[in-house]
Amino acid sequence: MFQVKSKWESTNYHEVLFIGVFERTTKFAGLLAELDGFLDGQLTELFKNNDISAKKKTVTVVHTLGKLKTKKLVFVGLGKERELTFELLREVFGRAFKKVQKLKPADVALGLDSFIGGQLDILDVAHAAGEAFCLSTYQFEGYKQKSNEPEKKIKLITIYSDENDAEEILAALTVGAIYGKGTNSARTLVNIPGNMLTATEMAEFAQELAAKYKFEVEILDKEAMEKLGMGALLAVNQGSTEPPKMIVLKYQGKEQWTDVLGLVGKGITFDTGGYSIKTKDGIVGMKTDMGGAAAVLGAMEIIGELRPEQNVVAVIPSTDNMISGAALKPDDVITSMSGKTIEVLNTDAEGRLVLADAVTYAKYHGANYLVDVATLTGGVIIALGNDTTGALTNNESFFEQVLEASVEAGEPIWRLPIFPKDIERIRSSKIADLNNSPGREGHAIMGGAFVGEFAEGTPWVHLDIAGTAVTKNEHDLGPSGATGAMTRTLALLVERFEPIK
Ligand code: BES
Ligand code: ZN
Ligand code: ZN
Repeated sequence: MFQVKSKWESTNYHEVLFIGVFERTTKFAGLLAELDGFLDGQLTELFKNNDISAKKKTVTVVHTLGKLKTKKLVFVGLGKERELTFELLREVFGRAFKKVQKLKPADVALGLDSFIGGQLDILDVAHAAGEAFCLSTYQFEGYKQKSNEPEKKIKLITIYSDENDAEEILAALTVGAIYGKGTNSARTLVNIPGNMLTATEMAEFAQELAAKYKFEVEILDKEAMEKLGMGALLAVNQGSTEPPKMIVLKYQGKEQWTDVLGLVGKGITFDTGGYSIKTKDGIVGMKTDMGGAAAVLGAMEIIGELRPEQNVVAVIPSTDNMISGAALKPDDVITSMSGKTIEVLNTDAEGRLVLADAVTYAKYHGANYLVDVATLTGGVIIALGNDTTGALTNNESFFEQVLEASVEAGEPIWRLPIFPKDIERIRSSKIADLNNSPGREGHAIMGGAFVGEFAEGTPWVHLDIAGTAVTKNEHDLGPSGATGAMTRTLALLVERFEPIK
């Protein structure tokens, strides 16, 4: 996908060459100066007349009109040099790649050094380019007779850089691309409709990942769940004709199975709400209710590629949430694997039920730290909107590590509190240990804190991606639809993780 070369030559054929430009650059240097020379100072003129803008995120295409073997120069505005950040650069690259993808070029080159600015070095720039390339050019193929995928995709990018050694740059590009591809896998899982991605199919996907990356894999069927007493996941599945699956993947990157990170993802393949049924408008889009599972599987793909020295157990409770004569009803009391009993006041609060058993099962598999990711509540969208993932925790130091990973990944999270009074509401059932829906007030907190009851003393962070798993609008790093939110945060957390003393 990438090749790295040290020097651009005017005789090299490329359909497109990307060059980064900063505002108020007083002199042309490097590749830019060289190109200007070949074009008889015309670039200087274009800059003077503001025909090429260096304002951040502007992309200007200049034809070389036969003067160079490179057909088009694509100038990418980076804004002020000292203000360049990794996040901005990733978006800028995304925008530029998207624009150029529309030109359907076969052969693309990138003057990598021209994008160095701010605190970033060449390897950061390479990582950003690799990641942005994969993310921004992603398309969900779909099911039209004529596929949604562009006919001509950019396949090979030649990277020019005088700096450092080519191998290191290639490695950084590749790591970026691995992060991008893992996120795209998560996006695809979320975009697939519920009739095509059942719990069984999700389990098959996990099995394929396991085979490819040599993960240990365990798929529990209904019978096994019954034996283990997973009454909460089974209750949600009760109304369905599709069998449930509890999916477990283990990656051991240390000698001993210690300091194990548990990644738990809500895998509801379609959420009708059950007898607390959703409205005809509210139900559309509920194929995306397995966004947490997708993020965990996407992260496992990244982990499988990068093989960090960490131990990870991924646990995905998967089923749809349907209605039938056998379905779970409001007022029912169920017993979770942990032994805690739950009064079900709302069958649409099913995510916390399946996560309850998954968290317990992750601990059973030795998880010492837990992150659960879930499209859990509409409430988090009201609280934080569609750009920020909601977080809850029972452990400051562990949360700090998740927060740092999210900042590096460019996936904003914001923490909501859990106070003792919140916990009282979750425990307020008169006839069971817990109730799954203590009312709409603060219900993003209620949902997450309910899951936290099953983490008990284990350091735990909850990430509610109901608002961020899907976007209505096309953006610099992808199309509308699934975003793959938290895939990169989870993978980075694993890569950087330090056990808490
Ligand atoms: N899957 C939904 C949450 C959701 C809402 C995800 C919108 C994506 C977009 C979840 O299972 C749910 O229905 N939650 C209820 C909880 C309530 C009944 C306490 C909600 O948010 O309304
Ligand atoms: Zn629901
Ligand atoms: Zn749901």
